[in-house]
Amino acid sequence: MIELQDFSVSFKSGTALRQASLAIRPGDRTGIVGESGSGKTMLAMSLMGMAPAAADLSGKLVLDGRDMTGADDRGWEALRARKVAMIFQEPMTALNPLRRVGDTVMDPLRLHLGLSKAEARARALALFEEVGIPSPVERLRQFPHELSGGQRQRVVIALALACDPELLIADEPTTALDANVALRIIDLLVRLAEERQMALLFISHDLAAVARATRDIVVMYGGDIVERGPTAEVLTTPRHPYTQGLLGARPNPVAEPRGADGKRPRLPTIPGSVPTLQDLPSGCRFSGRCPVELPVCAGTRPGSTLISATRLANCHALKQEVSA
Ligand SMILES: Nc1ncnc2c1ncn2[C@@H]1O[C@H](COP(=O)(O)OP(=O)(O)OP(=O)(O)O)[C@@H](O)[C@H]1O
Ligand code: SF4
Ligand SMILES: [Mg+2]
Repeated sequence: MIELQDFSVSFKSGTALRQASLAIRPGDRTGIVGESGSGKTMLAMSLMGMAPAAADLSGKLVLDGRDMTGADDRGWEALRARKVAMIFQEPMTALNPLRRVGDTVMDPLRLHLGLSKAEARARALALFEEVGIPSPVERLRQFPHELSGGQRQRVVIALALACDPELLIADEPTTALDANVALRIIDLLVRLAEERQMALLFISHDLAAVARATRDIVVMYGGDIVERGPTAEVLTTPRHPYTQGLLGARPNPVAEPRGADGKRPRLPTIPGSVPTLQDLPSGCRFSGRCPVELPVCAGTRPGSTLISATRLANCHALKQEVSA
């Protein structure tokens, strides 16, 4: 349904997303993990046709068989709301503090679906009910600051669902919420995805959240997709050296207890840090930090190798291992 093929996003300072290929099909629930700066948001924005204007783009973006690579904003505008919607970490970024939340949710219904005011109101009410907002009739008339963080995120989810998108991208949707509220939002996203046969792309630093929300996982580092496969398999038996490093400090990240603040610790750190775009090696981005680096790694980009029936990884050492 929506597919990136060898899609790259480059700035003067370097390549933020390098030859990414990813297909999202109806009903998929896919997680994206990786340290800060690894290109997760850039991948998500690319899927929406919203890579920064200052960037050089190459590769293809295909939507329902249509090549959208060169499509302009007008070409996207009508499609986007019905195909792809996105929610972010901080619900206030999507809500106008000076408008009643009901009006904010009614806007796209009127604009993109051409509903009358009464029809849009009835639909907004149904959406508020669907996302579990209590006393929805009263809530429609409230301003964002009158709602709790969890309720605001539910309003943003209702807004994202307004035009029945086929793919919902959630970029760190629970990071700003306390632990119990976060769990309920994750379960809501999963329920909505299942009931609506909507694909879900879930970006998070919280591996337990990704384990709960997704069936498949994509691991990113330095603008590259480095490993992918079923979430449960990748999180329990990571194969790529970067994924192993990411999970290394926590043998069972999924079962890990929460800290005193009720939150799970964020992803552990691997020695060193993600280099800036200018300093990324031209070959495997992880060379220089990788404990199993080979002579070929720094200068040659590893291709994607099938390392088992269900798993792909981009790594010279793994490629040698499976072809031995
Ligand atoms: N407009 C821009 N101009 C130049 N570089 C950019 C721009 N936007 C992002 N980048 C760079 O692209 C890289 C990927 O950024 P991205 O926001 O996708 O990371 P991320 O994985 O989402 O990180 P985080 O976990 O912190 O949200 C980073 O090195 C970032 O500095
Ligand atoms: S390609 Fe080389 S440097 Fe990169 S992860 Fe594999 S072994 Fe390490
Ligand atoms: Mg991000």
